[in-house]
Amino acid sequence: MRRRFAPRRSTRADSSDVRALLLENLHPLASTVLGDAGFDIETRSGALDEDELIEALEGVDLLGIRSKTEVTARVLEARGDLTAIGAFCIGTNQIDLPAATRAGIAVFNAPFSNTRSVVELAIADIIAMARRLTVRDKALHDGIWDKSAAGSHEVRGRTLGIVGYGNIGSQLSVVAEMLGMKVFFYDVDDKLALGNATRCSSLAELLAAVETVTLHVDGRAGNAGIFGREQFAMMKPRSLFLNLSRGFLVDYDALADAVRSGQVAGAAVDVFPDEPKNRGDHFDSPLRGLDNVILTPHVGGSTEEAQEDIGRFVGAKLRDYVHGGVTSLSVNVPTLTPERTASAQRIAHLHANTPGVLARANHVLAEAGVNIERQVLATRGECGYAVTDVAAPVSPDALARLGAMDETIRLRTV
Ligand SMILES: NC(=O)c1ccc[n+]([C@@H]2O[C@H](COP(=O)([O-])OP(=O)(O)OC[C@H]3O[C@@H](n4cnc5c(N)ncnc54)[C@H](O)[C@@H]3O)[C@@H](O)[C@H]2O)c1
Repeated sequence: MRRRFAPRRSTRADSSDVRALLLENLHPLASTVLGDAGFDIETRSGALDEDELIEALEGVDLLGIRSKTEVTARVLEARGDLTAIGAFCIGTNQIDLPAATRAGIAVFNAPFSNTRSVVELAIADIIAMARRLTVRDKALHDGIWDKSAAGSHEVRGRTLGIVGYGNIGSQLSVVAEMLGMKVFFYDVDDKLALGNATRCSSLAELLAAVETVTLHVDGRAGNAGIFGREQFAMMKPRSLFLNLSRGFLVDYDALADAVRSGQVAGAAVDVFPDEPKNRGDHFDSPLRGLDNVILTPHVGGSTEEAQEDIGRFVGAKLRDYVHGGVTSLSVNVPTLTPERTASAQRIAHLHANTPGVLARANHVLAEAGVNIERQVLATRGECGYAVTDVAAPVSPDALARLGAMDETIRLRTV
């Protein structure tokens, strides 16, 4: 790895030295977790632009953001002293991750905190479509007593096809089975079938088997437009369709036509290719105004419970990284969950992943007469991470030699 940033060494005697800047109205639990860890916290309600962020980050160790703060390579180069960034959300597209890795800044997010929220909305949508709830609701609000069983169904015993059996898809599988649905799924990866779910070997096989299709795939580029006219035509007539994953996966003109023709009897859509930026902005879609089509403004994961869990989860990730060098579930640096020993000191060493680097670092420690009690190493692409517990505090001179190694990206004692 080419070293584009100067290596950094930071040795912290106590937690009160650690400064955290939390932007974008994070859930108060984030401040509670970090405050309880002894960190000094500044909170601001809005996002900052690039220049404002660079200025605000002076002397800051931990940055907490949501999706609106862009952490660019320029910010990271200017403020390479940052120790870690917490994205208090699911996505991390707003952060230049390769630049963060080059600077030795660990990035954490909350990949599972809103999983259950999305699952519950999907279940609510399925039941609402099967009972034509929004149609009945609208009629009554319009003053029409439309009492009828026609076109209303129980979900018990109906088949559900889940495309993408990751965090959300697999949990939906469990909850849907609890309602008595028969679950089929298709995933490009080999996935363990939970409960009584049936694995399909292709999307075509799944579409031929089920009456309700729900998309829960990730946003990789190759998934653009995976569901269009051809796929709607392959569904069983009068099926239900849901997309609570990403807007650019689906051709919504084709979906609108399929609804109008009756091929699709109901649809629930939470995500759109071009979503309005701000609350209150105008929204348009070919799906507007169609019967038994439920439109929600990307709120699948937006619940107070999810926000609370995100605050707690990401706050704890930042705390554990500062205090213990723990990087589990980091989105950019190698992941390690080293067990805490009673050792005198822990050396957390992010370095270029090149042959012999660990041997060279250990040689420095051996020359300084340091007794290693435990050592773990993980690598990820061009970055390596070694956590070394030692019996007695390492001398400033030996730490300086480790910090000066060509391969060192970041050296911390915790
Ligand atoms: N509506 C919301 O508010 C909301 C909230 C959270 C997540 N999401 C979205 O939900 C989706 C799923 O999230 P997750 O946490 O379960 O993701 P995940 O990464 O855990 O799971 C995605 C799964 O899809 C599979 N996959 C990818 N491409 C596929 C394809 N073409 N065909 C079949 N399987 C494919 C992957 O192998 C993986 O198992 C993501 O797109 C995410 O952005 C939406």
